[in-house]
Amino acid sequence: HEQNMPKEGGVDHTLDLLNEGYYFILNRKNKFDSRVLETRLLGEKAICLVGKQEAELFYNEDYFTRVEAAPNRVKKTLLGEGGVQGLDGEEHRHRKAMFMNLMTKDSLDEISRLTREEWDHAIEANTQEELNVYDEAKRVLTRVALRWTGVPFKDEDVDQWASELGDMFEKASKVGPKHWKSRRSRSKVEDWIEDLIKDVRDDAIQVEQSRALYVFSNHRDLEGKFLDKHVAAVEIINLLRPIVAIAVFIDFVALSIQQFPEEAKKLKAGSAEDLQNYTQEVRRYFPFFPAAIARVKKNFTWQGYDFKENTLTLLDLYGTNQDPDLWHFPDNFTPKRFKEWQGSPFDFIPQGGGEFDIGHRCAGEWITIEIMKETLDYFINQISYKFPQQDLSYSMNDIPALPKSRVKIKHVEKIK
Ligand code: HEM
Repeated sequence: HEQNMPKEGGVDHTLDLLNEGYYFILNRKNKFDSRVLETRLLGEKAICLVGKQEAELFYNEDYFTRVEAAPNRVKKTLLGEGGVQGLDGEEHRHRKAMFMNLMTKDSLDEISRLTREEWDHAIEANTQEELNVYDEAKRVLTRVALRWTGVPFKDEDVDQWASELGDMFEKASKVGPKHWKSRRSRSKVEDWIEDLIKDVRDDAIQVEQSRALYVFSNHRDLEGKFLDKHVAAVEIINLLRPIVAIAVFIDFVALSIQQFPEEAKKLKAGSAEDLQNYTQEVRRYFPFFPAAIARVKKNFTWQGYDFKENTLTLLDLYGTNQDPDLWHFPDNFTPKRFKEWQGSPFDFIPQGGGEFDIGHRCAGEWITIEIMKETLDYFINQISYKFPQQDLSYSMNDIPALPKSRVKIKHVEKIK
């Protein structure tokens, strides 16, 4: 039977989105007691979805498209223009395969090894009494990302790349000067990578053939042509930027060790499965990527609600991970809940849902899990440290949310 979609009145709620942050869709879900609702964002009608069935609908490519879905200000900062996120159908699958072909077992093993090496390097080089986990993780991950993709770099330039890649995700949701800083950083990094792609194509620099820089530079589209230099750069940055962004999750790993010492203690000489479950719970419990965005592809009716072609649609990733119908006591940090998790592609979606190869689920989810597990093990079993007094609170209306102090540790030493 047909029903009217619950609808929020008012001209526009973009400001509320900035004020309510991660709770924007959840607050409305509770207010209207509905998992499907309509509001207005960025000057247009927007449908919000939250939940497992709703995620399954959102990832059905017969009903939703990514073409022209992301707002311009997000493309200018976080995503770039011409990348895999905005493609549909055959073109998307072909481009997505370029990413997924990098995610072999060997390649994931390598990224774990690089992560450990770079943490060792960082801890050995540290001369400070206190270490800022977030800043250090960004440096570590910048080095991991550049090495793994085959992008040549000088040691003294790492801080600058960490800061510019950081600007793209730290400031993407901001307005005013921070927004413009984010744009400038993207342009600078794009120029730098475009030059490298040109050099690879001209044989002016040598890069191992298995490295992403080589693979993407030589990738052929469905018509057999090279990617436009700019698009190839956007895709290389689609590897570099999010690897550095894992620093956000690593900061939450460190925070969780401080907040839930009993759970952390269980990982001392714990099994690989314990590390995995703990990592999953960090990705479920803490906020990071708030929502995925698409547009209705054609008119259709679902559960009695009319979806009109071209309507902007947001799937609440955070809200679905916190959904009390899907997660028992979602406010509790309980790694062992993942022993019972059935592995559905639609209920646990910190990095999007659905399938990797044919849908838009995050290409880097396995990398993220590997790097987090390696770092978690490192922070539990390889180093000793103390948490000094600090403000570890984080605000749910900052995207990405981060502890105020960024998590500081002191007297860091390698064990043994
Ligand atoms: C897509 C989150 C790390 C590469 C996505 C999406 C989300 C996401 C929410 C969009 C899903 C959708 O639109 O349906 C995250 C989070 C990460 C992370 C929270 C933690 C830092 C990574 C890493 C990489 C990566 C490490 C690569 C090395 C990508 C790519 C896409 C994507 C290429 C586009 C996929 C497509 O459109 O088909 N990610 N991601 N991400 N992510 Fe990640």
